Amino acid sequence: MQKLFVTGGAGFIGCNFVRYMLERHPECSVVVYDKLTYAGRMENLLDVQARHGSRLHFVRGDICDAAAVEGALREYGVDTIVNFAAETHVDRSILNPDAFIQTDVYGTYVLLEAARKAGNLRYHQISTDEVYGHIHGDHRSMESDNLAPRSPYAASKAGGDHMAAAYWITYGLPVTISRGANNIGPFQYPEKVVPLFVTNALADLALPVYGDGRQMRDYQHVLDHCVGIDVVLQRGEIGQTYNIGTGREMTNLEMVEILLEELGKPRSLIQHVEDRQGHDRRYCMNVDKVMALGWEPSYTHEAAIRATVRWYVDNRWWWEPIRSGEFQDYYQRLYGQRKVIG
Ligand code: NAD
Ligand code: DAU
Repeated sequence: MQKLFVTGGAGFIGCNFVRYMLERHPECSVVVYDKLTYAGRMENLLDVQARHGSRLHFVRGDICDAAAVEGALREYGVDTIVNFAAETHVDRSILNPDAFIQTDVYGTYVLLEAARKAGNLRYHQISTDEVYGHIHGDHRSMESDNLAPRSPYAASKAGGDHMAAAYWITYGLPVTISRGANNIGPFQYPEKVVPLFVTNALADLALPVYGDGRQMRDYQHVLDHCVGIDVVLQRGEIGQTYNIGTGREMTNLEMVEILLEELGKPRSLIQHVEDRQGHDRRYCMNVDKVMALGWEPSYTHEAAIRATVRWYVDNRWWWEPIRSGEFQDYYQRLYGQRKVIG
């Protein structure tokens, strides 16, 4: 692995991955291929460009555009595709699923086909614990479990996973898949719950907790996820899928308590609001398979939440312009008429 083609590399996890890989592997170079949707931002890569400019190239493009993808693969002679590009926010997928199906399903197919035509390039698909659907009892999702997605976002991601697996089985394309938990950390667009709540709390705005707030999530630090993806790229078995998470879960309310305590803000900011439609109650994955490759998480949930809060406190330059733009319309649409409960 010398020349990586990282789609969605200007988004949250993608930019952290690019930063990590260029630091960790001095021999590797990266082409970021990104459409720059509302979630993709060049600011996310500013420091990486300054430190590693000669090993980082940027191409603005859509993964659904086969000619553009094939042209970029040819131009840069890459050997590995890592596909982060996706529409990623569940609430937006409920408002309008169209772009999710385009990018997360069709776009994945375009990349797989381009990898095949370019001579069976190594292909890694970034997926999510949401494809397993919500998990009952104390079960932890295994990679071999059937997929049971329940939101348009999760269903689109599951479509991408099935297509990636089909390219391995049918054409022998060297594919791996990893499924991450709820990532938090630097550069996450403030529509996602942790950055949304931190930035609301800093402005003394209410924190809209969906329903009773007792849904369970595995809040994983993005750096642990990035290291896990690198481990799968280096040592994962072709054709296999790997869960990457802490293997533990906590309730949203527990997450909010830590967040407010770190900020020194009162519990009275918590406001229970009408639940998300089809809201998955619990995600939790078994991560033995990736741990058997020598990976382990370094952040607890609490450490990951506190570190994330501190990043947002220290980096207003990054999120204040976002919150004053398109975000305001989105916020009004999603939360403006939402019923307060309890
Ligand atoms: P993000 O929304 O922050 O970034 C997505 C990036 O993809 C953006 O840079 C955007 O411009 C780009 N993009 C979107 N559509 C594109 C298209 N058609 N062509 C090219 N680029 C396009 O997302 P994220 O949170 O960084 O998630 C990255 C990947 O990780 C996604 O595949 C997501 O499903 C997966 N994932 C996310 C989480 C999480 O908690 N955020 C957890 C597990 C897996
Ligand atoms: O689990 C991995 C997934 O995590 C990724 O695949 C997705 O791309 C990513 O968006 C994330 O999905 P979630 O729906 O779990 O994340 P979100 O931050 O939107 O919500 C986390 C939890 O917080 C969830 O139970 C819903 C709740 N929530 C969310 C928002 C935005 C609230 O209670 N209030 C809110 O305003």
